[in-house]
Amino acid sequence: MSIVARVSATTRNRVAVLHGVNFDVLERRDPELYGGASLSELEHQIDAWARAAGLEPLFFQTNHEGEFVEYLHRSRELADGVLVNAGAWTHYSRAIADALDLVGLPAVEVHLSDVEAREDWRKLSVFDGLVVQKISGKGADGYREALGVLAREMGVAA
Ligand code: DQA
Repeated sequence: MSIVARVSATTRNRVAVLHGVNFDVLERRDPELYGGASLSELEHQIDAWARAAGLEPLFFQTNHEGEFVEYLHRSRELADGVLVNAGAWTHYSRAIADALDLVGLPAVEVHLSDVEAREDWRKLSVFDGLVVQKISGKGADGYREALGVLAREMGVAA
C-alpha cells in the first residue's frame, strides 16, 4: 500500500459543514442575530478553526431541502463527522432529520442566534436525539466549540 493510500485509509478527520436555507444571504440578515458576516467569511473562519483542531472541512450550502438530504446521504462516504446549521429546516424538516439519522456519523448542531430565547417555534429541533450536542447563541464562536466537540468524538488530536 502506498503512503497516500495508507494515510487516507487511516485518516478520519473530514467534517462536512452544512448550511441550510437562507445562509447564502447571511450578510443581509439581521446583524443583531447573525453577526453581519457573509457565509464565505464565516466559512473562512471555520476553515481556520477546523485545521487548527486537526480537521479537514468540506463546505456545502443549499436553499433546496432535497439537495440538503442528498448531501447528507453522500456525507456517509465523504466525511467522518457532520456540523449542521440547517436554519429554519431545523424546526420542522423530518426529511432532513431522517437523513441525518441515516448518515451514522457524529453530528453537532449549531445556531448563530440563541434559538431558546426567540419565538417558541424555534425552540423545537427535529434533530434532538440525533446530535451529540446543540450549540446556540454563541455566534461564530459556537462553530469553534462544535469543531472541538467533533474532534473529540472523532478521536482526532490537533
Ligand atoms: C439559525 C436559527 C434558525 O431559527 C433560523 O431559521 C436560521 C438561523 C441560527 O443560526 O441562528 O435561519 O439556524
